[in-house]
Amino acid sequence: MGNANVTADAPGPGQTPQRYDVVRRQREFANTVTLALKPHAGVRPTFTPGQFNMLYAFGVGEAAVSVSGDPADANTFIHTIRDVGAVSGALARLAVGASVGVRGPFGRGWPMQAAIGTDVLIIAGGLGLAPLRPAILDIFAHRRRYGRVSILFGCRHPKEMLFCRELRRWSRRVNVDVQVTVDHADIGWHAHVGVVPTLIARVALDTRATTVFVCGPEVMMRFSINALQDRGLPARRIYLSMERNMKCAIGLCGHCQFASAFVCKDGPVMCYEKIADMLAVPEI
Ligand SMILES: Cc1cc2nc3c(=O)[nH]c(=O)nc-3n(C[C@H](O)[C@H](O)[C@H](O)COP(=O)(O)OP(=O)(O)OC[C@H]3O[C@@H](n4cnc5c(N)ncnc54)[C@H](O)[C@@H]3O)c2cc1C
Ligand code: FES
Repeated sequence: MGNANVTADAPGPGQTPQRYDVVRRQREFANTVTLALKPHAGVRPTFTPGQFNMLYAFGVGEAAVSVSGDPADANTFIHTIRDVGAVSGALARLAVGASVGVRGPFGRGWPMQAAIGTDVLIIAGGLGLAPLRPAILDIFAHRRRYGRVSILFGCRHPKEMLFCRELRRWSRRVNVDVQVTVDHADIGWHAHVGVVPTLIARVALDTRATTVFVCGPEVMMRFSINALQDRGLPARRIYLSMERNMKCAIGLCGHCQFASAFVCKDGPVMCYEKIADMLAVPEI
């Protein structure tokens, strides 16, 4: 598919990429960038925290990428991309002024409504902080709706700390508990060392009224669930963002199948209570 297929009178945002322009580019660290994308014409569709778009690097291909921006910003889609292959590499190399195709937003996001009135515990590993950032910003914008808010974030190395300035700003807020950890420290690191699930024992947790949002590598999510359940947190209060290969993103092709569910339309955010059996089967 080429640039010429991106038309204003296309069948709809779900099926045909709409042309967006890169208006800002921020290098986060080594292979990870954050892009701000503005519609070439018309307005940006609304999204809910946790949803994703299909980003099309013209002539290379499409990949699912979570929206990592503030839901209150009505002008741009913000996406944080790690260069790990052909499509993500082409997207990560886009310069300001370049064009990209966007389909979406797709999927079910974080349970922002269901979490109202409860404490919220956010657990992110590495790039998993990207789809959680819109939820965090939405919670801050409506802080009185929620009880205690805690954010646990871990990455491999201090040099891979995503949104590090923002994390520092969040940690200075009086109404949020932010704890960070790295797998491997360097000489300037004075905070916790260890994988993210080890932080769970250190956080205040009301098991009757806490909603937990978890996103990161699947192994990190599994260990986080074990640690949460050790502390008595019921499965119905734990939500995970799942990642599977996507093609159509609209529930037609089956590429993202996860047992009987399609991650593109039944997820990516899923309640652990509903997927515990599937998650227990390796490689499903
Ligand atoms: C719902 C959803 C949300 C996503 N959100 C984001 C996002 O916000 N930012 C983002 O960068 N990506 C995100 N992804 C992953 C993205 O869709 C691609 O899978 C990823 O960018 C690799 O695509 P590629 O074609 O460049 O690499 P491929 O050619 O598919 O893979 C190249 C190599 O990288 C490995 N690889 C594939 N995916 C990953 C990965 N995620 N991490 C490390 N190694 C990998 C492969 O095993 C392979 O060895 C998301 C995926 C889903 C399903
Ligand atoms: S990506 Fe095609 S069914 Fe989900």
